[in-house]
Amino acid sequence: MSQTELERGIAEVLVEEESLRQRVHELGEEISSDYAGRDLLLVGVLKGAVFFMADLMRQLTVPCEVDFMAISSYGAASDSSGVVRILKDLDIPLEGRHVLVVEDIIDSGLTLSYLMRNLRARQPASLEICALLTKPSRREIDIPVRYVGFEIPNRFVVGYGLDYAERYRNLPYVGVLQEDVELGVTKR
Ligand code: IMP
Ligand code: MG
Repeated sequence: MSQTELERGIAEVLVEEESLRQRVHELGEEISSDYAGRDLLLVGVLKGAVFFMADLMRQLTVPCEVDFMAISSYGAASDSSGVVRILKDLDIPLEGRHVLVVEDIIDSGLTLSYLMRNLRARQPASLEICALLTKPSRREIDIPVRYVGFEIPNRFVVGYGLDYAERYRNLPYVGVLQEDVELGVTKR
């Protein structure tokens, strides 16, 4: 297939579209069986998790609700400080609910660790994490992740919701970014 304008900055495909589809289907089956008869609330972190969330939800065979929050981390954009500011909070109260946090990727784990403390304080009946991708070698803090799509090596990836400076979210697969990519202009 010919390369699109969007794909010019991509060095390598890491997770193919078909592998994503297959894995999301498996996760959907696992989550549906685990949450059978429970009142499930999916919580997504904007914006990266939106794409994964939309596909995962449609693989669930149990009733569920969905809500989103937007956060911003203090400090350098590329390095997680773990101190998080809530830009948009959830609309739905968590108390007594079975909450599954859906994330695009866990890197150091600092952002999610802070978020989990915040959500736990709202006294949900249960609180688990489902992450599409995780980079175990980058982890700085131990957080139990109940569902993982793929473990990936320590490389900067984009696509299927993941961005580089807000671009590439609309790639249908997960790819590794070329090292010489500049914003808006791709060197060839
Ligand atoms: P953590 O606090 O270091 O775990 O940061 C996690 C957040 O950093 C994710 O929600 C992403 O927004 C971003 N991130 C980490 N690694 C990547 C990557 O390879 N590509 C795109 N975004 C990433
Ligand atoms: Mg994110």
